[in-house]
Amino acid sequence: MRESIDHILFSEEQIQTRIREMAQQISTEYADKDPIFIGVFKGVVLFFADFVKRVSIHCEMDFLQISSYQGTQSKHMELKKALCSDITGRHVVILEDIFDTGHSLEYTYDYICRQAPASVKIVTLLDKPARRDPKVTLQADLVGFTVPNEFVVGYGMDYNEHFRNLPYIGVLKPEVYEG
Ligand code: IMP
Ligand code: MG
Repeated sequence: MRESIDHILFSEEQIQTRIREMAQQISTEYADKDPIFIGVFKGVVLFFADFVKRVSIHCEMDFLQISSYQGTQSKHMELKKALCSDITGRHVVILEDIFDTGHSLEYTYDYICRQAPASVKIVTLLDKPARRDPKVTLQADLVGFTVPNEFVVGYGMDYNEHFRNLPYIGVLKPEVYEG
């Protein structure tokens, strides 16, 4: 374990076991739907790769990227990378690393819905409900793990672009934030 990590929340084995279950569930639900899996860069990359490896039906993949910036009064989201595929009439499964305040997923969901897909489902590896903006009414359809109100890193998730490649999910030591 890296010295900046206070403790491990989910081991590599726990993550892989849960992903196998989630992928099996989605494979059953979408057996005759020809789904397209859409990942939100960059945090989702490790989860996305392991998830689709366990999906047993034909699947297409695409990615988008958004970024947020603080305006004078509120946070704004901006599309950094658009989808390459035409998703009109398609069954879309959005994959996310973590459902935190919900602003990213809400923006992603609206962007996808504007392209008139046949259906949209949200699959997130982590859900941190304690941080949700009460204005966000969107809910995830499938959650890997619910996490406490702590900043987590690893398995795709970063702190200042560090720790994304850890194979487990851990909580940072407070002194890392405090410098
Ligand atoms: P949102 O607050 O739900 O919009 O989440 C925005 C994005 O911030 C997520 O997709 C993650 O990439 C990132 N994020 C939110 N919470 C954490 C965390 O605890 N650790 C690392 N990244 C996070
Ligand atoms: Mg993300």
